[in-house]
Amino acid sequence: MKADRQAPIGVFDSGVGGLTVVREIMRNLPDERIVYFGDTARVPYGSKSKNTVIRYSRQIVHFLETQQVKAIVIACNTASALALDTIEKEIDLPIIGVVKPGAQMAVETTQNKRVGVIATESTIQSGLYQQLITEADPAITVYGKPCPLFVPLVEAGYVDHSEESRQQVTKLVIAQYLTEVREAGVDTLILGCTHYPLLKTMIGEFMGQSVTLVDPAKTAAHHLEQMLSERGLKAAQEHEGQAHFYVSDVPDSFVQTADLFLGEYKGGPVDQIAIDKY
Ligand code: DGL
Repeated sequence: MKADRQAPIGVFDSGVGGLTVVREIMRNLPDERIVYFGDTARVPYGSKSKNTVIRYSRQIVHFLETQQVKAIVIACNTASALALDTIEKEIDLPIIGVVKPGAQMAVETTQNKRVGVIATESTIQSGLYQQLITEADPAITVYGKPCPLFVPLVEAGYVDHSEESRQQVTKLVIAQYLTEVREAGVDTLILGCTHYPLLKTMIGEFMGQSVTLVDPAKTAAHHLEQMLSERGLKAAQEHEGQAHFYVSDVPDSFVQTADLFLGEYKGGPVDQIAIDKY
């Protein structure tokens, strides 16, 4: 049976960070309805094992299937790196992650063949960004660096354009993590985690103007658009785009931080579900 083009797109993440991907989808595809799931009871994924992240992702995909979605986007870099290959073999729905689009964009961007990747511990350890980039162009050297403190800093509001004293704290952490990557002489840096686009200005200032920052969320939104067009699954224009959010913990903290990630875009209802039942 052919999927319904007016059906929603399912997007999931370990928590609230995937809203940076929702924001890009809303910007590129304003007519699409979105069903978002944030695994707020089990976040973070970035320090968890492959098997655990696959198990969690499988449950979420089962939930999204009950919402009759026409396609799934794994907004979480860690779940894209650890679970996409397994999950895509198990379902009939089209599914994309953020790692492949991000890696591809970096390959197209670099001139000096030195690419940096910053992400969670689990994403860097998976080696997937490194593998995809060197498969596409073996002349590229990839410098991977886990930056585990960035996620809590962003969620606490220590982001670009926050008050000066907060930015000072984040800038110290940026210097601590990124000095090595800067010294490696990369001309392209992948922001390989949902939260990092909120530090883009400060990271950009530290790395210098000669370094291009790649945001996989933006590229993934373009890949999604292309994939929907090819399959005749883009929503008709008269359709009013809207979003429904589901979380696995009480909605409070999600609701409080959602605006930070969604920017100028509007939220929608937020409901808690028991994800381990799926
Ligand atoms: N969403 C995760 C990612 O993009 C970051 C937060 C976490 O560790 O769960 O890798």
